[in-house]
Amino acid sequence: MICETEQVIICSGLQDSLAIIMPVLRSDHSLLAVEEPGHFIPRSVFQNHSFAITPVPVCTDGLDLKALWSSKSTVVYVTPSHQFPLGHIMPVANRLKLIDWAESVGGVIIEDDYDSELRYQGSPIPALQGLHPEANIVYIGTFSKVLSPALRVSYMVLPKRMLDRYRNLFNESASSASLLEQRVLAKFMVRGHWERHLRKMRTVYKKKHEVLVQAVNRHFGDQAVIIGQGAGLHVVLELLNSVFSEEELIKQALAKNIRLFPLSKTYISHTESDTRQKLIMLGFGGINTTKIDHGIQLLHQIWYK
Ligand SMILES: Cc1ncc(COP(=O)(O)O)c(C=O)c1O
Repeated sequence: MICETEQVIICSGLQDSLAIIMPVLRSDHSLLAVEEPGHFIPRSVFQNHSFAITPVPVCTDGLDLKALWSSKSTVVYVTPSHQFPLGHIMPVANRLKLIDWAESVGGVIIEDDYDSELRYQGSPIPALQGLHPEANIVYIGTFSKVLSPALRVSYMVLPKRMLDRYRNLFNESASSASLLEQRVLAKFMVRGHWERHLRKMRTVYKKKHEVLVQAVNRHFGDQAVIIGQGAGLHVVLELLNSVFSEEELIKQALAKNIRLFPLSKTYISHTESDTRQKLIMLGFGGINTTKIDHGIQLLHQIWYK
């Protein structure tokens, strides 16, 4: 990231960040592209601010750039470091093409870098904002993944070109993030605890991730494919030869006390009978490492009995 402190806005989570940007963008833009599948909270914020949203498919290189061009949108919301929910990473070449798109159409990129601190394989890829600090890129980060989602502290880096409009609209607004917690967090960083905590959590989650991947390979073998591994706090499991629908899979897991998030919620378009029905999201952030293997074994037993 390359920015000045005046560009950094502290917010109380993704929804808050987006709600602040919407009026800043609304006078020049009305069509907004979102990833399909993608996070559902942003979509609802965009719609509440009267943006027309177009779902743009995601491929293994992240957002499909050709489809973005044909969407005619001039704002795009993306998760290039670890696409939510599928976990794909957008290569640098595509990042540069995405920035070219924004420059060519006078567009704005909303870059949600929600779990970029948690990368377990390969070298880090620069954020879009870092690749072109002068471009129209709104960068959004959060403390929810590495510290706690209960804290409700996030941040956003606005492009310099947007600052005047932001100030005109929000000069009289108060911060929605608790000042007390901001002060504590600042001290936590100044005293070096943040760096240490980050390194520690990276090791903790890397271990959980490894245990989860090994457990899936051990119990599911060639009955499932893991999608989006190597980063973050979740992976997606594609179940091969499964006879159940997503709803049934989740219901059966719940009966054994395993709560699973319905991945279908991340799609705008609806369909009953494709591989989407066989995709299951496995979050491992909050689970004790020692319980992961048993949980996966249990899932295999109930789905392939
Ligand atoms: C795609 C995505 N972005 C951002 C966040 C973080 O949101 P917040 O900062 O509101 O906790 C999440 C949390 O799960 C997420 O899935």
